[in-house]
Amino acid sequence: MSNLVKVAVTGAAGQIGYALLFRLASGEAFGPDTRVALHLLEIPPALKAVEGVVMELNDCAFPLLDNIVITDDANVAFDGVNWALLVGAKPRGKGMERGDLIRENGPIFTTQGKALSKAASDLNVLVVGNPANTNALIAANNADGVPIERFHAMTRLDQNRAYAQLAEKAGVTVNDVSNVTIWGNHSATQYPDAENAKINGKPAYDVIGHHDWLRSEFITTVQKRGAAIIAARGLSSAASAANGAIDHVKSMVNKTPEGHWFSAAVPSDGSYGIAEGIIFSYPVTSDGQGNYSIVQGLSLSDWAKEKIAVTEAELRDERETVADLLK
Ligand code: NAD
Ligand code: LMR
Repeated sequence: MSNLVKVAVTGAAGQIGYALLFRLASGEAFGPDTRVALHLLEIPPALKAVEGVVMELNDCAFPLLDNIVITDDANVAFDGVNWALLVGAKPRGKGMERGDLIRENGPIFTTQGKALSKAASDLNVLVVGNPANTNALIAANNADGVPIERFHAMTRLDQNRAYAQLAEKAGVTVNDVSNVTIWGNHSATQYPDAENAKINGKPAYDVIGHHDWLRSEFITTVQKRGAAIIAARGLSSAASAANGAIDHVKSMVNKTPEGHWFSAAVPSDGSYGIAEGIIFSYPVTSDGQGNYSIVQGLSLSDWAKEKIAVTEAELRDERETVADLLK
């Protein structure tokens, strides 16, 4: 067993960090033949808590866990890493939108973006900290020498939420659902697309039948799921968010089966008429070697195009709001 993947996780003492690190160390994300080194970045007041998490990681005696670095210096954390999972950022509270965090969390991603220049040449970055799309844009713009295509923001949790809603409505399991796409921003404007989704290979619209539900409650439930969890738990999603990150990594390091895709917010190349450069969630496939392609040619109704225009406009506005943080 000679493969070694170095993975940086920021916000390692946070609630998502706690749900994520053990699954990374177990080998779940990178497979049974790959050892995992963890580079854990935190702010100084949280380093003690990280030490406790590391004690627990060691106490699991994970056979695939290689070594662990703890640091408050992004240059140390990102040195030579193949993956950077950028989780560390403030979560929103009740009554806030994720975009309300933009001026507080955005600056974190300038410093970290710069330090990502120290990473390995095959670096892939997943931004989880909110507002994830625009934080990814900030990091990408500050990371000299790292291709912008390596910066992704997480919409996999939204995709998983959409799968669960469709499966429940159709009375099937999530295994019977496929080809769901989250378009746009990880925010309340995202467009969860059931028009292209399938259930047991048939159009989800035909199987479910309730088109009113598909165009109203389904969409708003997925768009507002994060807020519903905050209202119920008093804290934002953590285990499901960590699960989304694991699923994203797994989808990237394995070749996507023919006819399938997954959702990830990636730099727009103008596909589907979206403004170039914003980090926009699209249907994507992976070649399993760290490269993705945006799925082309999906049909979108005029109604869907209107929804997509709204989420695109929000991301353009967010880009304006952080213009001073972009190089
Ligand atoms: P948390 O408050 O429990 O943990 C955040 C951690 O980040 C803290 O330990 C904090 O010390 C650390 N941190 C802050 N600034 C840092 C910096 N500059 N460098 C390194 N670490 C830093 O929050 P959480 O529940 O783990 O959520 C983290 C972020 O993920 C939030 O912004 C939240 O809104 C977001 N989130 C995104 C999704 C998604 O689907 N994209 C889902 C859930 C949560
Ligand atoms: C989520 O979708 O659960 C996270 O982005 C947390 C939040 O603020 O909703």
